Amino acid sequence: MSKPGRADLVIVANRLPVDHVTLPDGTAGWRRSPGGLVSALEPVMRANEGAWIGWPGSGDDTEPEPFVEDGLQLVPMYLSEEEVREFYEGFSNGTLWPLYHDLVAKPEFHREWWDCYVRVNRRFAERAAQIANEGATVWVQDYQLQLVPQMLRELRPDLRIGFYLHIPFPPPELFSQLPWRRQLLEGLLGADLIGFQLPGGAANFVRLVRQRLGHKTHRDLVYLPDGRSVKAAAFPISIDAAGFIELARQESVMERAAAIREALGNPRKIFLGIDRLDYTKGIYARLRAFAELIAEGRLDVEDAVFVQVATPSRERVEQYRILRDDIDRLVGRINGDLGRIGRPAISYLHSSYPREEMAALYRAADIMVVTPYRDGMNLVAKEYVACRYDDQGALVLSEFAGAAHELRQAYMVNPYDINGMKSMLMEAFDADPKETAKRMRAMRKQVVDNDVTAWADSFLNEMAQVRPEHGKTVRPVRGS
Ligand code: G6P
Repeated sequence: MSKPGRADLVIVANRLPVDHVTLPDGTAGWRRSPGGLVSALEPVMRANEGAWIGWPGSGDDTEPEPFVEDGLQLVPMYLSEEEVREFYEGFSNGTLWPLYHDLVAKPEFHREWWDCYVRVNRRFAERAAQIANEGATVWVQDYQLQLVPQMLRELRPDLRIGFYLHIPFPPPELFSQLPWRRQLLEGLLGADLIGFQLPGGAANFVRLVRQRLGHKTHRDLVYLPDGRSVKAAAFPISIDAAGFIELARQESVMERAAAIREALGNPRKIFLGIDRLDYTKGIYARLRAFAELIAEGRLDVEDAVFVQVATPSRERVEQYRILRDDIDRLVGRINGDLGRIGRPAISYLHSSYPREEMAALYRAADIMVVTPYRDGMNLVAKEYVACRYDDQGALVLSEFAGAAHELRQAYMVNPYDINGMKSMLMEAFDADPKETAKRMRAMRKQVVDNDVTAWADSFLNEMAQVRPEHGKTVRPVRGS
């Protein structure tokens, strides 16, 4: 392991792209955490000798030195037990997460959580200020770190600073509930460029800045009193489409897909849901819709099974515990009432799986069901589409997922409308293969043409345009 130096491109995210794990021999080690963002940024990081600052997810609170892992310069930030509770589980996931997702759950407002959020954001900003070279580009990620842009600008006015929000940005009516709304807007305005998933999020932000801070705005630009301007625009995130297609074509993945179908008793059609176990995802409503179709005899357990993978997430946050219990109970009741020997209606897995297994599940599934109440993008929908290079399979998609703006040929549903969802599940179940192939082809073209490298390049190219009078520019991977 060599020691990293200072960097021309610095990614600042709550999570490092590696997790701190205890290896089988009892020693501590690092494991690459799977995730779109890492694969998106890895090429551009390598091309620019980038550094990544983030929390490794566990460990004690002694900060180790930065290190180089697999060619990536990693700078771990440890969170104390109190910071995990108040910054991560508290303000990030008990306040901001529900507030930014349409109040699907009730956000809690606690002043100690906010104070801790400020403290942790300051530590991240200070670390970024130490690592960034003169004139470097720093790209801050997501809702956990919205104060970092302004804090960093105060420390290092020479930097180009970008911010990207991976989750929705709420309408002013909801955002305005936040007692610290002003500080958050000012925090974000420390950036030169603020990226959102959808144009609507960018427009919400600009409107709030005008209403609450009184700054002049014109379309996607905010003019600050000190003469600086900030751009707020949409950059819909995507996946490593080529990587998923390659994976889905592997012999071992095809064999695994066949084995999954076999293990499920070769039903005529397999429905699939894959989500983090989160209340925004609409898992409960979709399972109810499916169960009602079976109870009413519109589907039969000999013909159809629902495979639901729920990845454990934020397990110490109360709302997530409640959700887990609710889903456990619902699945138990549905299988108890409607299953037959060897034929459960729902095959439920509370676990996370490697990319290969996900690709095999996508290959095995006839109908992918993605029904969030609100979702910034939803990359599972895009992964499914990429893996169906055979043009088979149907995607049922919530109109409230960011992905619905691009995957327009999906079978669209409103997850609050159970009857509507039932009709659409049936439409996808009964669809003519020619029709589903046509839809899948169009969606796959969209995902392949707009992959994650295009996303990262377009953001970084836009960053290169801001304040061209100073600063180095980051080299894009493919150009655009
Ligand atoms: C969402 C957020 C990410 C977050 C991820 C997993 O995708 O936008 O910032 O990292 O969920 O959640 P976790 O709390 O485990 O980091």
